[in-house]
Amino acid sequence: MICRASYFDGSSAMSSPHATTIGILGAGRVGTALARQAMKAGYRVRIATTQSAADNALLVEIVTPGAVAVQASEAAASDLVVLAIPLHKYRTLNPLDLTGRIVIDAMNYWAPVDGVFDDFESDSRTTSEVVESFLTGARVVKSLNHIGYHELEEDDKPAGDASRRALALAGDDAAAKSFVSHFIDRLGYDAVDAGPLAAGRSFQPATEIFTGSHTANQLVALIQKDRPLADAA
Ligand SMILES: NC(=O)c1ccc[n+]([C@@H]2O[C@H](COP(=O)([O-])OP(=O)(O)OC[C@H]3O[C@@H](n4cnc5c(N)ncnc54)[C@H](OP(=O)(O)O)[C@@H]3O)[C@@H](O)[C@H]2O)c1
Repeated sequence: MICRASYFDGSSAMSSPHATTIGILGAGRVGTALARQAMKAGYRVRIATTQSAADNALLVEIVTPGAVAVQASEAAASDLVVLAIPLHKYRTLNPLDLTGRIVIDAMNYWAPVDGVFDDFESDSRTTSEVVESFLTGARVVKSLNHIGYHELEEDDKPAGDASRRALALAGDDAAAKSFVSHFIDRLGYDAVDAGPLAAGRSFQPATEIFTGSHTANQLVALIQKDRPLADAA
C-alpha cells in the first residue's frame, strides 16, 4: 500500500533526536549537506569516508561543524546509517559493520558520470536490491536519493505546510521504514512509503519523481501511476 508514512513504533530512540546518532558514510556533497540538516533537526551526527577520522577531522570541523569525524566502522554503529557514497563503490562498504543496522541507501546509478557497471546493467533488480544483497543482514531503506544535495537544506518546511516537499522511501522492513519516516519528517519533509524495496524503481534516476519536486499527494499519485511497472519488474 502506498501511503503517507506513520512515524511511531514505540522506539525510544525515535522520540528524541538528541538521543539518536546518525552515521553518514561519505563526506561529499550529499553527506555534508545531510549532516548539517540532521544537526539542524537536533541529531548527533558522525561522518566517515575511506580516509581516517584524523584525516577528515579538519574538513568535518569546517564543513559540518558539530559533527564528529569517525572511522567508517564507528559511523556504521549508529542508530541510523546513511550511504552517501558513489554507488559503484558499494563493494568497498563492510557488510559486517552494517549487519542489523537501519541503512538509508541514498545512492543512484549515474552511468554518464560514474561509468557503466555490470552489477547494475546486467541485473534487473533495482540498485537498492543489489546493494541489500551485498549488505547481508542490513535493514535497507531506499530514500533521500531524489533530492539534490543543495535542496536538502533549502526545501525543508514545517509539518503541516500545504506546500511541504515529500520524499519517497521503499524497503522490506516495516520498523526500519517507520524509523526512516520519522527522520525524514524531522529533516523537514513529508515521507511517503512507496512499498517494498523493489518499489524504489519508481524514484530511481530518469523517473518523473526523480526529476521533480512533489508534495505528498503528488508523490502518492506518481507512485500509484508507476505501480504496474514496479510490480511487473
Ligand atoms: N549530488 C547530489 O545532489 C545527490 C543527490 C542524491 C543522491 N546522490 C547520490 O549520493 C551518493 C553520493 O553523492 P555525492 O554527490 O555526495 O558524491 P561525492 O561528492 O563524490 O562524495 C562521495 C563521498 O563518498 C566517500 N566514500 C567513498 N567510498 C566510501 C566508503 N566505502 N565509505 C565511506 N565513504 C566513502 C568519498 O570519500 P573517499 O573517496 O575519500 O572515501 C566522498 O566523501 C551518490 O551515490 C549519488 O548518486 C547524490
